[in-house]
Amino acid sequence: MIQCGPKVVRRAAELLAAGELVALPTETVYGLGADATNADAVAKIYAAKGRPSNNPLIVHIADIPSAEKICQNFPAKAYALVERFWPGPLTLVLPRRLQGDGVVCERAVAGGKTVAVRCPGHPMALDIIRAVGRPIAAPSANRSGHTSPTSPAHVASEFDGIVELIVDGGECLVGLESTVLDLSGSTPAILRPGAITGEMLAPILELDPLQLSVNEMSRASHLAGEALKSPGLLWRHYAPKTRAFRYEASQVPAIRTWLPEKANVAIAQLAMLHSSVLPRTRERFNMPTEPMLYAREFYRTLRLADECGCDCLFIELPAAQTGLWAAILDRLGRATEPWSPEAKL
Ligand code: TXA
Ligand code: MG
Repeated sequence: MIQCGPKVVRRAAELLAAGELVALPTETVYGLGADATNADAVAKIYAAKGRPSNNPLIVHIADIPSAEKICQNFPAKAYALVERFWPGPLTLVLPRRLQGDGVVCERAVAGGKTVAVRCPGHPMALDIIRAVGRPIAAPSANRSGHTSPTSPAHVASEFDGIVELIVDGGECLVGLESTVLDLSGSTPAILRPGAITGEMLAPILELDPLQLSVNEMSRASHLAGEALKSPGLLWRHYAPKTRAFRYEASQVPAIRTWLPEKANVAIAQLAMLHSSVLPRTRERFNMPTEPMLYAREFYRTLRLADECGCDCLFIELPAAQTGLWAAILDRLGRATEPWSPEAKL
C-alpha cells in the first residue's frame, strides 16, 4: 500500500482520475487527495476522515494558470505572493469560480463562495497533479481531530485498508500545515499561521505583521462575518491520544510536587535547557531550539509519545512567539491543555 518509485506517479494519477483517494506527500504534511472536480470522490475524503461536511478543503494545483481557472479572479497581490512563495506552504483563500470547465465541486468548498488554493512544494505531488490534469482536494491525511501525518507510516496508521495507495515521498520537510491567508475579504488575514510567516507576508501586502495577526479573538470575529467559513481553524485538534499538557520551565518544581505517585510521564523539553527533570520520566524528547527543526519534529513527537504508553505528556512552551514560533505555538495550543495545579490525571 505504501509505494515509491517511478511507477507510483502514474498509478496515483490513474486512481485519482477514477475518483479514488490517494495519500500524497507534500512539504508540509501528507494529504488525502481526491479529484476536486468530482463530488463523489470528494465525499470519500469526508467519509474517510470523519470530517464535518461544513469544513472546506484545500485545493492543490501545480501552477498559477491552474489556480486562475478555479478562482473568480486573481488579484495583483495574490500574484505578488505566489510568485514569491509557490510552490510552497502558502494557501490563499479567494472567491471561487462558480461555473465552467474544471471548477471545483461545491462539496470540496463546503458550499462556500471561496476556495483555498495552494501549490505544494513537493516534486512528487506536483508530478501527480500534472498527470491528473485536475485540481486535487487534499486535507491532512489524518482522522478528523488527530495529529497530522508527516511520514507515510503515519498515514498508514490512520488509513490502513481504507486508502489504496500511499505515495512515499519521505518525511515532510516543513512538518506543519501551510499558512492559510484569506484574501477574499476587505483586509487580508492569516487564518492559520504556518511556515510562510506574517513577517514574510506583510511587506508584500504593504501591511504591518500585526494587522495580519492571528490571535484567536480576531480570527473568531473575522470568521464570524462569513458564517464560520473556516470552522476547522477554530477547533481544538492535532491532539495526541495521550493527555498532553503544556508548561513553562518555571513550573517544573510545582509539577514535580503535583505529579501523582504512580504516573509515568513523557516530556518534550527544549534541548539545552533541561536542568529541570520530572520524576518517573519514561520518555524524554529533546526538542530543537531552532524553529524549523522544531516544526519538523513536532507531530512526530506527539505520535511517539502515544506509542510509549505513558500517562501524560508534558511539552515545554518555547519563549519565542514570532516568525515560525507563532505557527508552532498555534498547534501546541490546540494539541495540549495548559498545566495547572488543579489539573486531575
Ligand atoms: O499544508 C496543508 O495545508 C495540508 C497539505 C496536505 O496541503 N493540508 C491541510 O488541509 O492542512 P486541512 O484540511 O487539514 O486544513 C485546511 C484548513 C481547514 O482548517 C479549513 O477549515 C481551512 O483550511 N479552509 C479550507 N478551505 C477554506 C476556505 N475556502 N475558507 C477558509 N478556510 C478554509
Ligand atoms: Mg488537518
